[in-house]
Amino acid sequence: MAARQQEPGAEAFLPEKHDLASLRRASAECQGCSLYVHATQTVFGEGTVKARVVFVGEQPGDKEDRAGRPFVGPAGHVFDKALEAVGLDRSDAYVTNAVKHFKFEERGKARLHKRPRPGEIRACRPWLMAELQTVQPRALVLLGATAAQAVLGAEFRVTRDRGRPVPSELAPIVMATVHPASILRAADDAERERAFAEFVADLRSLKRLLDAE
Ligand code: URA
Ligand code: SF4
Repeated sequence: MAARQQEPGAEAFLPEKHDLASLRRASAECQGCSLYVHATQTVFGEGTVKARVVFVGEQPGDKEDRAGRPFVGPAGHVFDKALEAVGLDRSDAYVTNAVKHFKFEERGKARLHKRPRPGEIRACRPWLMAELQTVQPRALVLLGATAAQAVLGAEFRVTRDRGRPVPSELAPIVMATVHPASILRAADDAERERAFAEFVADLRSLKRLLDAE
């Protein structure tokens, strides 16, 4: 096994005083880990500073890397459909990722998603923490194991604790659920429908908690 690469981390690239605009500008220059080398651009979070909910995915995909915007590809489409099903509006949300550059492997013309390493997730964490500190949402929703473990620690299990609030100082309501891309990977239509319904049920619990505040 290769020795673990030490990533310098994003900290040194953060502006001292920041709002979402200055964070976004600074993140475009980040070289906190080696992922900036092959990706097209930094995909920073998107949404209003007034958002009640911050959603955190894993990392941008192929479409997001080209567009420079989070969750605009196939997984984003599933995400939008689920939000719509529970009456949550993406304009009331701030959407971002645990890692801001696309990590991939080239296979012919395709660019296949590669899981970020713990060192890369750690390197990128200052951006996410700065986004949370700036938006100060009522609810923080972690989409999938990468986001959940980046924020709640390596011991956190989405399969066990999805869809219910977990104690955290990061927001009054913190919840994890599956990643919308996992729904697209379902083996068949029936399985996909079930996975989607479970995802919607988790978001409905979130909506109920928000409305009860
Ligand atoms: N998957 C993610 O985790 N984030 C995106 O922005 C797109 C796909
Ligand atoms: Fe910086 Fe994160 Fe991109 Fe690494 S993935 S270069 S830490 S923005």
